[in-house]
Amino acid sequence: MIREFGKPEGLEVVDLPVPVPGPGEVRIAPEAIGVGGVDAVIRRGTVAGHGFQEGHLLGSEVAGRVTAVGEGVIASWEGRRVWAFTGLSGGYAEEAVAAVDNVLPLPDGLTGADAVTLGGSGVVAHFALARAHFAPGESVLVRGAAGSIGITAVQLAARGGAGAVAVTTSSAERGARLRELGATHILDRAGEGEGDGEGGGKDRGEGFDVIVDIAGGPRLPHFLDMLRPNGRFLAVGIVAGQPPADFGARLLDRFRSSLSFATFSADTVPGPDQQAVRSAQFAEAARGELRTVVHEVLPLDRAAEAHRAMDAGTVFGRIVLAP
Ligand SMILES: NC(=O)c1ccc[n+]([C@@H]2O[C@H](COP(=O)([O-])OP(=O)(O)OC[C@H]3O[C@@H](n4cnc5c(N)ncnc54)[C@H](OP(=O)(O)O)[C@@H]3O)[C@@H](O)[C@H]2O)c1
Repeated sequence: MIREFGKPEGLEVVDLPVPVPGPGEVRIAPEAIGVGGVDAVIRRGTVAGHGFQEGHLLGSEVAGRVTAVGEGVIASWEGRRVWAFTGLSGGYAEEAVAAVDNVLPLPDGLTGADAVTLGGSGVVAHFALARAHFAPGESVLVRGAAGSIGITAVQLAARGGAGAVAVTTSSAERGARLRELGATHILDRAGEGEGDGEGGGKDRGEGFDVIVDIAGGPRLPHFLDMLRPNGRFLAVGIVAGQPPADFGARLLDRFRSSLSFATFSADTVPGPDQQAVRSAQFAEAARGELRTVVHEVLPLDRAAEAHRAMDAGTVFGRIVLAP
């Protein structure tokens, strides 16, 4: 749990009673727990104003076996291997509870680590592109592409027939890995082409039809300038912090370009729609058609180490905890 907002050292291992699933819930013994960028954002206190408090038990997605069912849940769930969204808390645990509506059986051939790498983030990538009305032939920039949302967004844009799939990333080595996943242009975090010898910020010229932005932060306004006329900017994450309060002025400066800025949260996508996309993505991942990148699997009691790696920026893909 988060004893103190801020550094990873503020995370503490605590003993808590085994949770009892309430009506409509199941209890799961996780074999894998996803460590998402959102966990780091909560731990740092970035979103403390949104009701997160010290004492919070982190973890929003797990994969494992159902060990108990609550009132009103069909008993046949017990013993099944599932992925589950635990609702922004309670996942970093030896026993976790989730609403049965947020649980999905795992297909054979999909590891728990793969499931928690794709489960939450894949739907964000899918619906962000859909919300941006991305169409084949359009150019896409994924900003902050080296995390699990970005890695899926790059693959979906590439196989959706994007004219170009640019990414921002912090090193040529990470850029090369993203290129293997479908990126065509590698930019640095400032949006400049670097180290790839082709394309990039300066030569890109025309800008992008769609920007899926996982980073946010002080540089966000600069990326608004990279939109083509009729371009759509989708803010899905804030791993670099909040953008400047006056960022909207950049859009108004280019009023005649008909630009759009939207925030996007998967929370506004109906649960059954999310589950349908997730189920299809799990099947694709099990068949090897959609790639997941598990950076490392660490024991649960080394959660602080996982967060140190997140803060150090050494994670490519997703860190997974295993009880
Ligand atoms: N919209 C939704 O429904 C939804 C759902 C879940 C999570 N989220 C949000 O999505 C974010 C997490 O996504 P994720 O797990 O895919 O991300 P992540 O793994 O935490 O980060 C993605 C990448 O961003 C880059 N990055 C880190 N700091 C940066 C900085 N200061 N400036 C520019 N780039 C930076 C890093 O790559 P490089 O080092 O290669 O640059 C990093 O690998 C969180 O903000 C979370 O709240 C949104």
